[in-house]
Amino acid sequence: MANPKPHLFSLSFLSLLLLPHFPTVSLAQTLFVFGDGLYDAGNKQFVSSNRVDASFPPYGMTVGEPTGRWSDGRIVPDYLASFMGVPHIPPILNGTADFSHGANFAIADATVLGSPPETLTFSQQVIKFSDNKNKWSAQARSEAVYLFYIGSDDYLKFAKNNPNPSDDQKQAFVDRVITAIEAELKVIYGTGGRKFALHNLAPLGCLPAVKQANGNVQECVKLPSEMAELHNKKLLQLLVELSRQLSGFQYSFYDFFSSIKDRVIKSKTYTFETGMAACCGTGSVNGTSCSTNNVCSKPDDYLFFDGKHLTQEGNLQVGHLMWGADPVVVGPNNLRELLFLPLNTTVMLADIEEAMAAMSPKQNKIESLYDIKMMESEMENQWLYQVGKAVSFLI
Ligand SMILES: *[C@@H]1O[C@H](CO)[C@@H](O)[C@H](O)[C@H]1NC(C)=O
Ligand SMILES: *[C@@H]1O[C@H](CO)[C@@H](O)[C@H](O)[C@H]1NC(C)=O
Ligand SMILES: *[C@@H]1O[C@H](CO)[C@@H](O)[C@H](O)[C@H]1NC(C)=O
Repeated sequence: MANPKPHLFSLSFLSLLLLPHFPTVSLAQTLFVFGDGLYDAGNKQFVSSNRVDASFPPYGMTVGEPTGRWSDGRIVPDYLASFMGVPHIPPILNGTADFSHGANFAIADATVLGSPPETLTFSQQVIKFSDNKNKWSAQARSEAVYLFYIGSDDYLKFAKNNPNPSDDQKQAFVDRVITAIEAELKVIYGTGGRKFALHNLAPLGCLPAVKQANGNVQECVKLPSEMAELHNKKLLQLLVELSRQLSGFQYSFYDFFSSIKDRVIKSKTYTFETGMAACCGTGSVNGTSCSTNNVCSKPDDYLFFDGKHLTQEGNLQVGHLMWGADPVVVGPNNLRELLFLPLNTTVMLADIEEAMAAMSPKQNKIESLYDIKMMESEMENQWLYQVGKAVSFLI
């Protein structure tokens, strides 16, 4: 009797051969982007009556021209589009662009709550999506990935206006933001969206602009980062909740907070000269007024390009992590996995305790963010490590 094993082997060998062709069958080709300046691909210039810095040098310096992006070059959605194998996703407000692979609704200064001038709030972005949804087929919209980064400016404003909030005030504000986000995610689900990719918020007190606004301090400012932490905890709970409530709701949750924290504290480990100061700007940490007169010559050496936004190199590292990192960084699916998940399946792997447990070892070290001595000693260790490497090389 023939041994079935060779047959099985050849079957799996065959499916390996076929694998590269699988994506063309059902892989999402559509990406929708919502959020603020971190993701803005040029929307701001269409609504602003004032000069929009991102449309002028030195923004875009690494790619040869300014594009309305708040970086020296590409932003995270550009990298994710490339990894998906589609062209960069254009800003929705550019009426002549090609939207066949999706649209970018993100715009600088966007918030969840309130209505700042010359921007689109998160809810206005979602309304714009709904108004335009017939540009895409129902199938494209259900297979599409919906990417979000929103809330930074809400918490920065809150921290500025409430320097000493009580715990109840902090929690109440976070609850308002999360409730508003929940409503918008449900609107998108209602239009057929199923694949949601969210970042948690960065340690906002580590943004050079925030450090400068708080008396030119070198260490990270506590309250804004604390608000981000409270938000991040609730955001993950919300996603777990939605995946239980809404049939077929799928998500990818990326721990941006830890990625940025690690790169601020241990910059050299992640190829940066510094995560403390921005490449472009003036003041103790180059936190404000980025212009051609005060820009560094090698943006790749910096995590932050200006006081609030990442360099292209920072965005590239973030894009790679969202796309392919393991569940300690992004879960329950990374973006690559999210794309392949068949529709109408809900992954219940991310039981809340399990998801929180994956995050908590990192959260324990958060206090070090506010402790300049500890940061210095970490940096010293890093330096010793570098010297050690150099010495062992010489030997
Ligand atoms: C709008 O999109 C078109 C087509 O991609 C492009 O040529 C044009 O430069 C864009 N306009 C702006 C202001 O970015
Ligand atoms: C601030 O930016 C300048 C370029 O204008 C750069 O040479 C300097 O190193 C930056 N400061 C810090 C602390 O990195
Ligand atoms: C998913 O479920 C919806 C209804 O809930 C149904 O209309 C649709 O055909 C299903 N899609 C697939 C791929 O099974």
